[in-house]
Amino acid sequence: MALPPAFLDELRARTPLAAVIGRRVRLVRAGRQWKGCCPFHGEKSPSFHVYEDHYHCFGCGEHGDAIAFVMRSQGASFTEAVEQLAAEAGLEVPKATPAAAAAEQRRLDLHAVLAAAAQAYQRRLLLPEGARALAYLRGRGLTDDTIRRFGLGWSGEGRGQLAAELSREGIPPAMLAEAGLMRAAEDGRQATDMFFSRVMFPIRDRRGRTISFGGRTLGDGQPKYVNGPETALFSKRRTLFALDLAREAARTGAAVLAVEGYMDVIALHQAGLAGAVAPLGTALTEEQLEELWRLSPMPVLCFDGDGAGARAAARAAELALPALTAERSLKLATLPAGEDPDTLVRRRGAAGMTDILAAARPLSDALFDMLRDEVGDGTPELRASLSKRLEAAADRIQDRSLAWEYRNAFRAHFKERYRKPPRGAPGRTGGGTALAARPRGLTRPTIAPADAAAERARNLVAILLNHPALLHDVEEAFGTVPLSAPLARLRAAMLEWSAGTEHLDSAGLMSHLTAIGLAAEAAQARSASPNPLPECAAPNAMPAEAEEIWWHFFGLMHRSRLDEEVAQARSAFERRPDAAAQRRLVSLRAAQEALNRGEQGLETDP
Ligand code: UTP
Ligand code: MN
Repeated sequence: MALPPAFLDELRARTPLAAVIGRRVRLVRAGRQWKGCCPFHGEKSPSFHVYEDHYHCFGCGEHGDAIAFVMRSQGASFTEAVEQLAAEAGLEVPKATPAAAAAEQRRLDLHAVLAAAAQAYQRRLLLPEGARALAYLRGRGLTDDTIRRFGLGWSGEGRGQLAAELSREGIPPAMLAEAGLMRAAEDGRQATDMFFSRVMFPIRDRRGRTISFGGRTLGDGQPKYVNGPETALFSKRRTLFALDLAREAARTGAAVLAVEGYMDVIALHQAGLAGAVAPLGTALTEEQLEELWRLSPMPVLCFDGDGAGARAAARAAELALPALTAERSLKLATLPAGEDPDTLVRRRGAAGMTDILAAARPLSDALFDMLRDEVGDGTPELRASLSKRLEAAADRIQDRSLAWEYRNAFRAHFKERYRKPPRGAPGRTGGGTALAARPRGLTRPTIAPADAAAERARNLVAILLNHPALLHDVEEAFGTVPLSAPLARLRAAMLEWSAGTEHLDSAGLMSHLTAIGLAAEAAQARSASPNPLPECAAPNAMPAEAEEIWWHFFGLMHRSRLDEEVAQARSAFERRPDAAAQRRLVSLRAAQEALNRGEQGLETDP
């Protein structure tokens, strides 16, 4: 039965091998892999290893993928094994049609064509005609062993050489065009070679089969590199240069890293960093990220130390966010300006690069800095937008518990940076507010009960003056709070304003209140007397913190209403678990828990 390889790849990717094998063999974790006693030969100490996509017994040599395991352990045929695994993975097995069989044969033929071309190029490199190319590669510091390992070659000087050579082996020009080695003939013009006068870099798939080539000029000609076109075998966005070698290396614990160029990868492998791969001259794609995650839970992406590098890093972070989980994350490393891994390794050896890798930063830290660099943090307004951007970034993470961790990490960062001058030291310039610098112990002195209720009411209004974006979320509850006359006037004006305004920002609200003659009431509500607002209600607080403290104050006034809100938020979240519903539930729950712990809402830090 000829099944499309793409289907089988999908099936293998969707089949958790350890789970399939775990049904028959007791497996225990051993680092990134699993180990157990081999089911295929009697043994007492485990030498049967299960990796992400294959198993291997070091006792009897038995090895294979999920399909092979089912066949071997259940005595199933290939078809039966595929059907069973596909059913478990929720995939439909494509019908084996004559057309599918023909397409598969075609692909096998193309692999053969590319293998023949790779051999021809490699052979030419060692002939007199390849001397200049060989000298060029050696001049760039590559050893003969590296040149062989990467299968580097020489295309030949003029056009038509490959076609002539391969036609003698019975491969017609049409096949070469299909393999991406020739441009197809066009209106009367002959088909021409894709590559000539270039050093050839075979591009291989994850299994090590050549699927295309990159070719470099020897001098400074343009374009510096030419890459083969998309073909039935070669999809640029799914391929990583040297993935086949990096997979092997990752298995024995090599760090997995993505760099920019062919020569970078080759130089790194030669220096002993064999987990290096590169995309093919484009920005990293989602599919390439997935491939990296199949090798390592925490690959390192290396970027140039210039503006373009910073933009590329930001793009990669954006791309990764939705797919992040506890087992799929990233680190970002920055190269010294003007240097690429190739030049770095040539100058400083492997240590030059391992230093860079050691300094790679977890995505959460790197993201904080990227957004801060982009948004700025010199004024309260900028800090408020920064905190919104951070929340939005965390919202994009679909894994809920990880999104929660990112939010916490961002808030902690934010607090540390902007709101916690060391005890006794003056506030940092451009940093926290006057409120923040006030020693905490002094903010919760004796407040008479009646005053306490008035203060809570005032806090509820003040938080919303500082964070009007919360109005929609709290408006119902806000409407039920008993308020003094001036505060009630503010509330009415705020609710009316929010109903007719798209962007609920504090500056807009204040100018509206000023326009309708409530400036003095608003100023009084926000003033620091008799008691300052808690830090987390200040204008530069993270919105989520402000929301939490709002519910906290509300709960102090109306405990049973708060509990109802929590129950409602929980069922809303269960019906539609989106980011907004989650945020609301998280804030409400945090407030409820703080109340359960008996906090009074004036303590600003737990
Ligand atoms: P670089 O120009 O940084 O490549 O482009 P490099 O590997 O450092 O090249 P050397 O050191 O001068 O030989 C990075 C990658 O971008 C793609 C290639 O994949 C290259 O490895 N590229 C670059 C192209 O596809 N076309 C080009 O013209 C240039
Ligand atoms: Mn380079």
